[in-house]
Amino acid sequence: ISVLSVASEVFPLIKTGGLADVVGALPGALAAEDVAVTTLVPGYPAVTEALQDGREVHAFAELFGGPARLVAGTAHGLDLIVVDAPHLYARSGNPYIGPDGRDWQDNPLRFAALARAAAEVGLGRGGVPQPDVVHAHDWQAGLTPAYLVYDGWQRPATVMTVHNLAFQGQFEATLLPRLGLPAHAFNMEGVEYYGAVGYLKAGLQLADRITTVSPTYAQEIRGPDAGMGLDGLLRARAGQLSGIINGVDTAIWDPAADPFLPAPFSPRQMKGRATAKAALQERFGLATNPNALLFGVVSRLSWQKGLDLLLEAIPTLIAAGGQLVLLGAGEAALERGYRNAAAAHPGRIGCVIGYDEPLAHLIQAGAEALIVPSRFEPCGLTQLYALRYGAIPVVSSVGGLADTVIDANEMALASGVGTGLRFQPTTTLALEGAIQRAAALHADQTVWKRLRRNAMATDVSWTNPARRYAALYRDLVGNRTP
Ligand code: ADP
Ligand code: GLC
Repeated sequence: ISVLSVASEVFPLIKTGGLADVVGALPGALAAEDVAVTTLVPGYPAVTEALQDGREVHAFAELFGGPARLVAGTAHGLDLIVVDAPHLYARSGNPYIGPDGRDWQDNPLRFAALARAAAEVGLGRGGVPQPDVVHAHDWQAGLTPAYLVYDGWQRPATVMTVHNLAFQGQFEATLLPRLGLPAHAFNMEGVEYYGAVGYLKAGLQLADRITTVSPTYAQEIRGPDAGMGLDGLLRARAGQLSGIINGVDTAIWDPAADPFLPAPFSPRQMKGRATAKAALQERFGLATNPNALLFGVVSRLSWQKGLDLLLEAIPTLIAAGGQLVLLGAGEAALERGYRNAAAAHPGRIGCVIGYDEPLAHLIQAGAEALIVPSRFEPCGLTQLYALRYGAIPVVSSVGGLADTVIDANEMALASGVGTGLRFQPTTTLALEGAIQRAAALHADQTVWKRLRRNAMATDVSWTNPARRYAALYRDLVGNRTP
């Protein structure tokens, strides 16, 4: 089976969050299932510079305001088709936001172009063989199913994956004539969304199948709270909606062979973990106490992630004897809050405001526990990295966090199956309770080590998720295997 995966980010070329990790890891994982994935991405500078053996396979005289080409090539083992459209993508830095901190004004056209290009390839008009399935990720690729439905005969099967329903790509209806969609596309069964054009809405409405990145989130988004206005549609299409949990790239996230760590470690040889902990404490200016209950956070600083609650819980964390290191960037108020907290608790709290991939690895390796207090979380990858690196996840019980962490309650401890701590609802009070519970468990090192062993033994690889995707594709192309 051949799949064209369409996305606005792909690790390690361009990344703002977990979407890139997933899009970057899926092709390798699916190869083991006999699924050949080519990934279509915008030609940002970081992408065109990394592309090797690029060859032009198609040229557009005009693509939303300028000439464009499709260039096929490889980078970091990925088969790529790059939409080379300098008027849309030749801008460095964050793929969505300009130097003034605002969304690029032409984002609606930039990502309509991505979808338009995807549809050309999907219809076999992109200069490469037609794929069996076109798989669109998030709102930036959301118009892909629409272009395929309204344009094509003999279109391929389509899958729309929601990585985050909070970002929907909604734009004024006046945009419509520029999109090159027929007028009748603008209705409830098409791209119309409360009088506007909805890119994600279009994808969810028109794709053959919808997936999201955990079973619990797939359930949650059928309700009004997590559904964010799209719950009605998702309820109506519940028969086509499923949740497939993300995996992690176990070659990039491997404590036994991680170039970003001072020393390797594994369940059988844990000395390197203590080395990482000391390095981490030093890096953040904390007391280098090997017995400290060191909590870590690696996160975008946004409302979704609930890190305002952790700020409020800091007195409790300190009273419980904890240390805290935070790596993150985002909302100014949160950045300020954590800087102030670090200044107020020298030796106990440290923060680095910014984006730092190597440091993210060190935190997973050196922290005793990783806190993820999200208000909603489609899947979450940091708790998966934490499990693999033996940082006990302390997570709110939502979405993929609920699906991947087994709470170490009394029964779980008695049966020896706990891998972390879960709390609900997502409130400061419940988070404080979880921090105190973590402190109690940590005080008994036999129990804590048991938890850590369980965490590190969790299968967070892509093996099972890749099977699920492959089965979905096969089902779609009517080529079921026995
Ligand atoms: P989301 O995609 O919602 O941000 P995920 O947990 O799925 O959440 O993925 C976040 C990814 O981004 C992880 O790979 C995490 O390590 C990384 N990340 C987030 N913030 C930072 C940061 N400040 N520095 C380095 N990596 C970060
Ligand atoms: C989104 C979600 C996150 C998920 C990631 C990859 O950014 O916020 O929960 O892990 O996509 O699917």
